[in-house]
Amino acid sequence: MLHRSFAEIAKGQQAASIDGILADIGVSSLQLDDAARGFSFQADGPLDMRMDPRGERTAEQVVNHLDERQLADVIYEFGEERRSRRIARAICRSRPIRSTAHLADVISAAARPMNQAERRIHPATRTFQALRIFVNRELEDLQALLEAAPRILKPGGRVVVISFHSLEDRIVKDAFREGAIKDKHFRVLTKKPVTATELESDRNPRARSAKLRAAEKV
Ligand SMILES: C[S@@+](CC[C@H](N)C(=O)[O-])C[C@H]1O[C@@H](n2cnc3c(N)ncnc32)[C@H](O)[C@@H]1O
Repeated sequence: MLHRSFAEIAKGQQAASIDGILADIGVSSLQLDDAARGFSFQADGPLDMRMDPRGERTAEQVVNHLDERQLADVIYEFGEERRSRRIARAICRSRPIRSTAHLADVISAAARPMNQAERRIHPATRTFQALRIFVNRELEDLQALLEAAPRILKPGGRVVVISFHSLEDRIVKDAFREGAIKDKHFRVLTKKPVTATELESDRNPRARSAKLRAAEKV
């Protein structure tokens, strides 16, 4: 059991030595449901959001120290939030912000739902996702894992990734496709992502957004 970022998966690993990689990425229910970790706007807690508590950057530092334009860019890029500028301005005007509830209130006041679809999700959902991805360098780490996989997998070895939002899934899809068409080191096993059945989603609503993709090293 190695406690380190999966971006370092190849560290100390011989080339073509691994049979398979299963990466179930993103945040865990244990982390989301622990208010003290600060991932969720459902319960009040410190603005932390570090997946690895040894990480140097917390969401509180990002929210209180990034300049307004950088903050808007983070919210737009990693949250796909069209109201990013308005939310970033409201956050900067409300500093210092120390808790998840305070941040969620500031965002809710600034980001009134503009249509039916937005009324279905909490106004803070996308911004909290954006801050979490930024604090934990989630997309960079995923890229690094996908770049290392073909090097450390044995021929016939497989890499399987379970992702939970479109930004992650797009990176996995592109990496497998490029690995098959351009680099010729992968055979894509999932033309379409494998998703949870209705039964599984009813039993575990968080599985609803999960997408599994797999590729085999040739
Ligand atoms: C979706 S959860 C996995 C849940 C687990 N499969 C289970 O059934 O309990 C993803 C886990 O990956 C961890 N994680 C996220 N990014 C990581 C990274 N770059 N390196 C190592 N672990 C990471 C998170 O802290 C979280 O615990």
